Amino acid sequence: MSVFITFEGGDGSGKSTQAKLLCEYLESNGYDIFMTHEPGGTSYGELFRHLLLDVKSKDFELDARAQVLGFCSARAQLVSEQIIPRLNKSNTITISDRYADSTIAYQVYGGEILDLKNDVEMILKFATHNVKPNLTVYLDISPEEGKRRIEGRVKKEEEPHAFGEAQQLSFLENNHFDQKKLKFHQAVRDGYASLIESEPDRWWVLDANQPIEIIQNEIQNRMLIWLDQNNISVKTQRTKKQEKASNNSNEQISLPVNSFEEK
Ligand code: TYD
Repeated sequence: MSVFITFEGGDGSGKSTQAKLLCEYLESNGYDIFMTHEPGGTSYGELFRHLLLDVKSKDFELDARAQVLGFCSARAQLVSEQIIPRLNKSNTITISDRYADSTIAYQVYGGEILDLKNDVEMILKFATHNVKPNLTVYLDISPEEGKRRIEGRVKKEEEPHAFGEAQQLSFLENNHFDQKKLKFHQAVRDGYASLIESEPDRWWVLDANQPIEIIQNEIQNRMLIWLDQNNISVKTQRTKKQEKASNNSNEQISLPVNSFEEK
């Protein structure tokens, strides 16, 4: 059995930081982790990210349907190239910073195409091979606080983006999406609220106003229990011989550590 976990939240919610900290924690505890993010996560997905940045410099608005298809095209590649192969291995944890729920929240609710929700759900099903997360961690933040944090982050660079420079196309302050008004971000938040209401067992809703460490502690504590309940164990189990040697000498057994590289 393998599990697929996603992180979702409005802009400035700190979900990328939380996802990265969780991956580091689980990895250092010996779990087999693969972390990815959207939009991006594949060579093709990163091209799409560049395209979005390019679009923002042009004098046209990207149509909501075009946005849905664009995000879903990049997502289809991510799912088939990266996610499905991991899920087909046993005892692995795949964590994605954003996934299909973002399209419902941002494009359907934020883009005010609620009348097309069923159509978008069908497109999502097609694009994702119907691969759904087993668990989604949601960082809830008000649009006002999210905006305040993004502005502060850009000025002080307090909370750098969680990914490497090649992937860091900084959607932050100049983000096409961030430039939309608070109304848009409130609609996105309403979208998440509706998704959570329709599938409450899949979501962990956390108050993103708390300090980073408090939120991370809660995620880690709950995660260890959840992984155990889902029969996910560390990669290297200690053998009886190793246990005995360790008890005798108090030596630490080092567990293999994966890298975050997208392979
Ligand atoms: P990014 O720089 O990755 O920031 P974040 O940390 O917020 O994920 O920017 C991604 C932006 O793309 C973000 O504003 C949400 C938006 N988005 C959509 O509108 N639809 C989608 O399906 C996805 C995956 C992202």
